[in-house]
Amino acid sequence: MSSSESVDESTPSCNIKFMSPDDKVVSEVNPFLVQVTKHNNVVNPLQKPSNLVATIIFNVPAAEKRFLQDCTDDSTEHRPEDNTRVDNTHNHELLKDEDGDLILLRNAEERNDKELNILIEYENSTSLDLVGLQIWRGAFLLSDFVIHNASKFQGKNVLEVGSGTGLVGIVASLFAKNVVLTDLNEPSIMNLLKANIAHNKDLIGQGKTPSILPLDFMAETWSQELTHVVSSSDVVVVADVIYHVEITNAFIRTLRKILTAGEKRSKDIYVALEKRYVFTLADMDSCAPMHNHFLEQLDTQLGLSPGCLPRPLDLENTIEVTMTCVPLDFKQYFNYDRCKELVLYHIRSQFVSKM
Ligand SMILES: C[S@@+](CC[C@H](N)C(=O)[O-])C[C@H]1O[C@@H](n2cnc3c(N)ncnc32)[C@H](O)[C@@H]1O
Repeated sequence: MSSSESVDESTPSCNIKFMSPDDKVVSEVNPFLVQVTKHNNVVNPLQKPSNLVATIIFNVPAAEKRFLQDCTDDSTEHRPEDNTRVDNTHNHELLKDEDGDLILLRNAEERNDKELNILIEYENSTSLDLVGLQIWRGAFLLSDFVIHNASKFQGKNVLEVGSGTGLVGIVASLFAKNVVLTDLNEPSIMNLLKANIAHNKDLIGQGKTPSILPLDFMAETWSQELTHVVSSSDVVVVADVIYHVEITNAFIRTLRKILTAGEKRSKDIYVALEKRYVFTLADMDSCAPMHNHFLEQLDTQLGLSPGCLPRPLDLENTIEVTMTCVPLDFKQYFNYDRCKELVLYHIRSQFVSKM
């Protein structure tokens, strides 16, 4: 987050402060989105005339393509400005562009990749309470992970929390059996999720439209419908919800509820985040206070730390949880800066039978 960040010297664990009520927060992925909007189809934003719609083009690799469900159009649309485009013609002559330069052909495996366009409507800058209307880098990282690990999502019930624009959940819906996108019950966020699902209905395919439900980390109780969705989820994806002390604490309480929900159902939770470094007088150094706070609270509330041994989560010792840090060596499919501040954690719960 940029433009409104400042160091709070008295409480170093809270690193975002507004200078004035009108201050805006800006997701730094937007400069990268400008590059993808040049391929934009003409789409009228459904939310507000001022909203942007990015056409984000990505390739599902041949190995993962078999996990795609209901993506009917197998053709690769020609984009003249892309000189590295795939040659599907089996023409072995050397291909040249208009200037006589050789067109690079990708290797055989990449030739079978499936090119897909996802349309995401978003805002360029928002107030802190509406950051979900922007796309954040964690969402791109997690979407890369989903595409690269499509088999982990195939046939699964997937839940996304803090969905924002819904990018990760919409990508997951290409492979999963069922996807539910959740966020605060704030009309502009709920409507943006609806709009983004509508923009991608052809890509997602008939009968696989993700559902949308409100899920507020602060809520003490859940609706019956939400309880059912959480209980029956196999995989939970979460991008970039670690940026505020109270939201982080409430998110970890929600994590516990998610991990313990559902009759003997193991869950895989993937949490992508961006460490945001600030210089604090308390530490006389630059540190990532929210990431540190997240790790401290995970340890305090759930007894979890990256690489820890399986830990019991309930009094009956029937649920064991583990936490690992996922290496970020998987392929990048989206156009963003995969900076060193990005982190991806995998938290897994398993039911152990006590005979
Ligand atoms: C930085 S945005 C990330 C959005 C999206 N996941 C992404 O990465 O592009 C943080 C998200 O957390 C959501 N959020 C904030 N407070 C929340 C709460 N109490 N309960 C649930 N979601 C919350 C916001 O509405 C927003 O969608």
